[in-house]
Order: sequence, then structure tokens, then C-alpha cells
Amino acid sequence: MAQQVLNVTVPAMAEGSYPIVIGSDFLQSLWPEIERQWPQRRAFVVTDANLVRAGLLDRLLAGTDVPRYVIDPPGEVSKHIHTASAIVEAMERAFLGRDTLLVALGGGTVGDMGGFAAAIYKRGVPVVQIPTTTVAQADSSIGGKTGVDSTLSKNAYGCFWHPAAVYIDTETLRTLDERQYCAGLVESVKHAAIADAAFFGYLEDHIDAILARDTDVLEHLAYENCRIKAAVVAEDPTEKNKRRILNYGHTLGHAVESASGFALLHGQAVAIGMIAAGHLEQAMGLVGDDRLERICRLLEKLGQPTRIPPGISKATLIDLLKRDKKAVRQWPRFVLLEQLGRTWCKDNQWAHEVRPDLVEAVIDRMTAS
Ligand SMILES: NC(=O)c1ccc[n+]([C@@H]2O[C@H](COP(=O)([O-])OP(=O)(O)OC[C@H]3O[C@@H](n4cnc5c(N)ncnc54)[C@H](O)[C@@H]3O)[C@@H](O)[C@H]2O)c1
Ligand SMILES: [Zn+2]
Repeated sequence: MAQQVLNVTVPAMAEGSYPIVIGSDFLQSLWPEIERQWPQRRAFVVTDANLVRAGLLDRLLAGTDVPRYVIDPPGEVSKHIHTASAIVEAMERAFLGRDTLLVALGGGTVGDMGGFAAAIYKRGVPVVQIPTTTVAQADSSIGGKTGVDSTLSKNAYGCFWHPAAVYIDTETLRTLDERQYCAGLVESVKHAAIADAAFFGYLEDHIDAILARDTDVLEHLAYENCRIKAAVVAEDPTEKNKRRILNYGHTLGHAVESASGFALLHGQAVAIGMIAAGHLEQAMGLVGDDRLERICRLLEKLGQPTRIPPGISKATLIDLLKRDKKAVRQWPRFVLLEQLGRTWCKDNQWAHEVRPDLVEAVIDRMTAS
């Protein structure tokens, strides 16, 4: 299949937009293309040790001596300000100036770290994202958010720094382990649920091919995810209002993720949060179709949890909800569906106040054995 290109409009960017290139098995021929696109810039690559082990860094750089920083250990444990500082210093040691192009090859951790380092290096250099996880290909590489954890909380440091381009090679997903692969697909279910009932139907109809990582299906998924997220981001690049719909499933999701001590992957926690949103919709009379059953069935086919696991107490969840970073007067807002493919908007608001007793009842219901 040929490559497809989507353009994300970002009025705040000097260029006005950036391209997302989607295809399969082009990583090995991408480097010359990057050099052609940015001939005046000197590249620096950020990746992690698992990408090196999986052979993806070699596939991208194929014997070139481009300076690089390999995040080790990989994953969230390294999404720390010390790593950002180490990346900046590695760039300085390589005598790189403001003419640097930072290339981030990896999942959301690498993308967030690379994006953040690019944003702060000598007051900002462009970043190219090459996402290699289902989370990154559907979500984190697009939209321009960067985040780095502090010792106290997730994404305490961060800024908006839109990529100069995103290159999605779905073939890179082959080496991703099953648990990460399936949990990342929850963001695709989220996109379908909030924005496109037909895409939801596609996910239901192609679930076996999705689980088998069929090439054409993966490319279609990447395209639809980017199309949906790009449209939302273009409308509200800095999350003033409508972009909040991307937070569907994330309100209780973040609380459950954190209460599990991060034993649950982000996508697994968001799956639980989406089911919770469905129960809240029912409690608030936003009913009329069988969407909750369909969402539940699809998540189960992806092997995702749909109940709050034992050991997580209601009191802990309520405490975490009160600390939600988007809370207003110590109570978070919830994104809810009006129907499959459309979020509920009231008084031009896309995230809603929900009575605490309703939230508590849903937690009880989803915890009871
Ligand atoms: N900026 C945003 O808008 C945004 C959106 C969603 C998530 N995020 C962030 O993204 C992070 C989660 O993303 P993630 O799940 O991609 O995490 P990740 O980058 O930590 O990747 C998960 C694991 O998979 C490994 N891996 C990555 N690609 C691989 C491949 N192709 N083959 C084999 N192993 C591979 C990584 O080394 C890591 O161990 C979180 O820190 C989250 O906060 C950011
Ligand atoms: Zn998410």
C-alpha cells in the first residue's frame, strides 16, 4: 500500500501545519528522506534501549554515525527531568546548535522526552516524531503535548511543542509485546467512541485482523486515529475547550491507573474509565442505544479490564479524583457520550460536572464482585 499523508493545521506554527506520513515498512528508507527534507539541519536521535534491541534504531540509521541518546531503562521510569537534562547535555557534547533537528524514535516516553528536550534546547529546535507503539501512533505523537514526570507527579513539566513531521511505519509495531499492543488500542476505541461511529463498526468487524496485526488494517487504524485526533487538535490546539473530549475515559482512568501503583497500563485504566463514563451516562439519562454493551464487548475482545480490580478502594479513587489536574473546586469534569461517535455538549462545555454520589455509586457497581 502506498504512503498516505495527513496534514495537521496548527495556526500557531510558523509553517501553519505539519504532515503525518502513514505507511508500512519504510523505516529503512526514511533517513535519506529526512535529510532531504531538512538539508540545513544536523540531526540528533533520541530512542530507548528496547528499540535498539528490537533492531529499529539500526533499521532507521543503517550504519550512519548520527549522534544519539538511548534512554535506558526504557519506559515511564525514565520519563524524568534528569533524562531531559542528560539529552540536552548529550546534544551539547555533540556541538549541536540551533540548527539541530531532533528525531524521536519510540513510544510515548521517547516522544514526550524528545519533544520536551527539543522545546527547551537553545530555546527550541524542531522535532520529528517516529512513533513505534499503538499509543504513540494513535495518540502521543500527534497534538504537540510534551510531558516529563517530577518525583511528585506525572507530566509535571511540559509544554506544547508541535512536531515538524510525524512518520508512522506500522511495521514497527511487530516487535511490541502483546500487553502493550492491546492496551494502546484502547485509544483507538476512544477515538471511535467520541468521534466516529463508522470507525467503531470497523474496529468491531476487524477485531481478528487487528489482533493478528494485519498490515492493511494497521495502516487504516493509524490513518483514522490521526484523522480524528488531528481534527480535534486543529479546532483547539491548546486545549481551551473542545480538545477536552480526548479526555473521555481518562477521568476515572487516571485515578485507577494511579491507584494501581501503575500496575495497570494507561490503556487498561482508560478502558475502565470508559465503562465508568457509560454508567454515568445511564445514571444521567443519556441513554438511547446499546453503546455501553458494544464498548464493553470490544474492550473485552482486546483483553482489557472493564471492572475496577480488587485492592483499589473507593476512598482512594475519590481522593485521587479530587486531586485531578483538571478539577474545578476539587472535583473533576467527565467527558460523556451522547451517542456512539458523539460526545455530549451542554452550554458549549464538553466536560461535565457529575454529582459525587453518582460517581460513588458507579465505583461501587464496578468494584462489586
Ligand atoms: N503527549 C501526549 O499527548 C501523550 C498522549 C498519550 C500518552 N502520552 C505518554 O506516553 C507514554 C506512554 O506511551 P507508550 O505506551 O508508547 O510508552 P513507552 O514509550 O514507554 O513504550 C512502552 C514500552 O514499549 C517499548 N517499545 C516501544 N516501541 C516498541 C517496539 N516497536 N518494539 C518493542 N518494544 C517497543 C518501550 O521501550 C517501552 O518499554 C506515557 O508516558 C504517557 O504519559 C503522551
Ligand atoms: Zn490516553
